[in-house]
Amino acid sequence: MFLSTPRNYFLSKPQFLDNPHSWIPHIPFAFWLMEMIKPKIMVELGTYSGNSYFAFCQARKALRIPTMCFAVDTWQGDVHVGKYSKEVFQRVNRINQEEFAGFSTLLKMKFDKALDRFSEKSIDVLHIDGTHTLKAARNDFNNWLPKMSQQCIILLHDTKVRRPGFEVWKLMEEIREQYNLLEFPFGEGLAVICAGENPPAPITDLIEHSKNNPEIIQWFEILGNNILWKKEREDLKHQTEKWKQKTALLNSELLKEKRKTKKLVKQLRKKSQS
Ligand SMILES: C[S@@+](CC[C@H](N)C(=O)[O-])C[C@H]1O[C@@H](n2cnc3c(N)ncnc32)[C@H](O)[C@@H]1O
Repeated sequence: MFLSTPRNYFLSKPQFLDNPHSWIPHIPFAFWLMEMIKPKIMVELGTYSGNSYFAFCQARKALRIPTMCFAVDTWQGDVHVGKYSKEVFQRVNRINQEEFAGFSTLLKMKFDKALDRFSEKSIDVLHIDGTHTLKAARNDFNNWLPKMSQQCIILLHDTKVRRPGFEVWKLMEEIREQYNLLEFPFGEGLAVICAGENPPAPITDLIEHSKNNPEIIQWFEILGNNILWKKEREDLKHQTEKWKQKTALLNSELLKEKRKTKKLVKQLRKKSQS
């Protein structure tokens, strides 16, 4: 099968899933990409709870490839995800230290501030998943372009979202003529862009093959949705368990109140008869 790789790591189970779930359907592709192109440097702009970033890190660790990984985020939220609690960063930081410290660095800062940390033409994989207005996404794309290597791949998340303010699709349309690209049109959409002069053969082959063989994209979709639905089922089971416990507690409170009421009614009757 075309997708098959020496370790078939794209069939693996992600270990560090949390809310929000929107990136989960693309995890098999993240695994596949890491195994196939073995980037030297990968950078993510917008990490939040780490579903995408930890997928790249998990593959890097399991496959023992020589990638240095960097996650850039203020971990404060933005106009689209809103402001979130400090616990989000604390969890990401803990997982990073316990599991990936040898090769992964969290850069808790604005994207623009992190630019100086990287040399020109050094990054092989850049995942852009920050603020989703056209202005912000275009800025991120253009600012980081000089840092990209000749073999680089840029990933743009949320290309399918049409909610107000979500305009990554507009950026994708702007650059479609200029670069060889592929869009995974499921989940919230992920564009895979060959932004360098010498793109990796596995990616150009994938783009070429998928033109006449749409089942290749569907395979990634089926694998990704399986992970998503399993996670949603787990979360629902967890919620159901919580509600069951709450219902049991309420039932016992109710029973106590009923007994008290019965006692009171008895006392009242006795009083009215005497
Ligand atoms: C959509 S979330 C990332 C989702 C994540 N990739 C996942 O797998 O679920 C966007 C993140 O980008 C961060 N962000 C947005 N604009 C930023 C900027 N200019 N500098 C630093 N962080 C930014 C926000 O704090 C937020 O955590």
